[in-house]
Amino acid sequence: MATSQDELKKLVGYKAVDDYVKSGMVVGLGTGSTAYYAVERVGEKLKSGELKDILAIPTSVRTKEQAESLGIPLVTLDTHSKLDVAIDGADEVDPELNLTKGGGGALFREKIVEVCADKFIVIVDESKLCDGLGPGFPIPVEIVPFCHEHTMRMIGNLPSCKGKCKPVLRLGSAANNKVDGDEPAVTDNGNYIVDLHFEEPIKDPTTMGKEIKNVVGVVEHGLFCGMSTAVIIAGSDGISVKEA
Ligand code: A5P
Repeated sequence: MATSQDELKKLVGYKAVDDYVKSGMVVGLGTGSTAYYAVERVGEKLKSGELKDILAIPTSVRTKEQAESLGIPLVTLDTHSKLDVAIDGADEVDPELNLTKGGGGALFREKIVEVCADKFIVIVDESKLCDGLGPGFPIPVEIVPFCHEHTMRMIGNLPSCKGKCKPVLRLGSAANNKVDGDEPAVTDNGNYIVDLHFEEPIKDPTTMGKEIKNVVGVVEHGLFCGMSTAVIIAGSDGISVKEA
């Protein structure tokens, strides 16, 4: 039985590819330490000939670089607007399979790709499951740098946010929400990220997402509601799958 968190990530990453990726598909490749293993598996199966004619769309510069290093043929949404499947990790998963994503800063590219997939397969270890999004992991929002303090205030004053969360500009590396620098973190798209810290679970993440999206200056938020086809979960008792 696998025990380390890394082994669990590898188990779900490999299983997602083995169960959902078939030859001839257009595949969305997620970002993060769990999606890393799904990308690795696609590369391995292409090399062995078990998979053929795969076209992939990466969701970040670092996933693109990993895929290129493995010889995975890449395309973009500009030429392929419809994906057969996308596979990605998540920062939190609630009982309705709504997700928080963007801890790794790639939320915009993840969402623009993953909404175009017939099947969106989420891969997590059991530490990512929660009763309600919010208190366990801040909600990342990608905003344009211009007047970012104003945009942060506008977000903080939304009905879903006012008095409920603390917006914090991400500093240092965009690839994590630890403060590891003094300058604003910059995404692959040249934008900033504000992390919304909640103390209580968010009651209605779908409505909150719509409110945030309406703020001028917001590019995208990390609430992925109603998007998951299935969540593959690795835990100490083995692998389980929850379907939407
Ligand atoms: C990247 O921006 C994120 O959405 C990741 O997919 C998410 O943070 C999960 O990452 P890990 O698998 O590294 O925990």
